[in-house]
Amino acid sequence: MPDRYAVFGNPISHSQSPRIHALFAAQTGEEMSYEALLAPLDGFATAVRAFAMSGGRGANVTLPFKEQAFCLATELTPRAKAAGAVNTLSFDGTALRGDNTDGAGLVRDLKANLGFDIAGKRVLLLGAGGAAHGVVLPLLDEQPAALTIANRTEEKAFRLALAFAGRRGTLPEACGFTALTGREFELVINATSAGLSDTALPLPPRLFAARGLAYEMVYGRETAFMRQAHAAGCRVADGLGMLVEQAAEAFQGWRGMRPATGPVLARLKSR
Ligand code: ATR
Repeated sequence: MPDRYAVFGNPISHSQSPRIHALFAAQTGEEMSYEALLAPLDGFATAVRAFAMSGGRGANVTLPFKEQAFCLATELTPRAKAAGAVNTLSFDGTALRGDNTDGAGLVRDLKANLGFDIAGKRVLLLGAGGAAHGVVLPLLDEQPAALTIANRTEEKAFRLALAFAGRRGTLPEACGFTALTGREFELVINATSAGLSDTALPLPPRLFAARGLAYEMVYGRETAFMRQAHAAGCRVADGLGMLVEQAAEAFQGWRGMRPATGPVLARLKSR
């Protein structure tokens, strides 16, 4: 029997993770299976325990269960603690180890795939929900000149920035969208869920620096944010690379080897 892995979410049928991990397994010759499992909205913990009891070795966790996975884990990596959420579980006897590979996936996509060096850059993070929370510390670790967190509900941006005060020297700045007028950033990351409903964010026109990068965490569609950035003449990337890189980081944690992500990303982009 190959080692079993899965991704839990609700909904889950759209998930690309089974395909990505199948490509990683084929590439590395690892004997493993990876399936998408729909957990009931009120039954995540039960579903995870049942999977572990039936021989599951590890699992990815996606919306809306990342915070529940954080609470369920019996051990947390420092980056999972900082994110307040878990997207990767490893089952080891009675221990349930929780990790968060999202931030590392974003940073690796930016640096290795897109050739964008975050160090010394003015970075704007749009949103203050779960997706934003998961990437603040890995971004700070890259030592940007400044990290600004802007959110529709300003107070949530302040709370998120405060949670990371003094963590890495640079204190994130927080504001609402109107305070962005007249400001310019070399990297703008959309971590809001506005792209899922194709809603345009009220962004001022000169927000995107020339030769900057606009990064949309949503993938598989052109969002209003991506169109805004294109119209401003900015280079634009979607979140497909982050998806593949966070998966590679999870795979490495489980199997002890890092798959090559370039060919997998190319395969996903080709269809
Ligand atoms: P996720 O885990 O995807 O981050 P979330 O925790 O519900 O989901 O957070 C959603 C984020 O997208 C929030 O920052 C939210 O802003 P508010 O805190 O003001 O609600 C942001 N968001 C969602 N739809 C938006 C919209 N139409 N315009 C601006 N921000 C939006």
